[in-house]
Amino acid sequence: MADIFLDTAKLEEIREAASWGILDGVTTNPTLMMQAGTADLKTNTLEIVKLVSGPVSAEVISTDAAGMVEEAREILSWSEHVFVKIPATAEGLQAMSEISSWPNGRVNATLIFSPNQALLVAKAGAAFASVFVGRMDDAGLDGMEVVRQTRAIFDIYGFDCQVLAASIRHPAHVVEALLAGADIITLPFGVLQKMIRSPFTDAGMASFAADWKKAMG
Ligand code: E4P
Repeated sequence: MADIFLDTAKLEEIREAASWGILDGVTTNPTLMMQAGTADLKTNTLEIVKLVSGPVSAEVISTDAAGMVEEAREILSWSEHVFVKIPATAEGLQAMSEISSWPNGRVNATLIFSPNQALLVAKAGAAFASVFVGRMDDAGLDGMEVVRQTRAIFDIYGFDCQVLAASIRHPAHVVEALLAGADIITLPFGVLQKMIRSPFTDAGMASFAADWKKAMG
């Protein structure tokens, strides 16, 4: 199953995408919260939880393991739908290993730029490994190759960690991520809108409407 998440903290975008009946979850980060005009992580995350029935990710701010664990304890207590985003650093691995041992330890490992980082977060018990495709492409690297290699490694060794293609820039990225075997793709609302738009669909509807008018005399 290919899950579609929205990569935004803007409630109006999530409400609109949810109304299409295709939304499986939401990812946020501090930048997306800022763009949504809020610093109230708890209130905004819980508003998102009301709009979508799947996983909703909220990110920690701390950079040390103890701080991440403390924030995660709080974030994960908000709702059973909430996943905590922890960066793929050495401190992050330490935090993930502890958090994922909790009964409610739902971890989305974020800021992954290599299959090695993906392997380590999977070993640390993360449920999702978020590979930042667009940021690698922006730097002249092949972001999708990291998704492909991560998928292959997880399959060969049977890791129970879902590959999440993140930092998606355009609809072609979505198709490539699907073909690379991503379990989940998180995308900005603008990319989701572009996925459904086609001038051929618009032209087809216009000609059908015009011909039906003629048929009716
Ligand atoms: C993933 O969960 C991140 O929020 C996101 O995809 C970051 O992408 P960006 O490169 O557009 O900031």
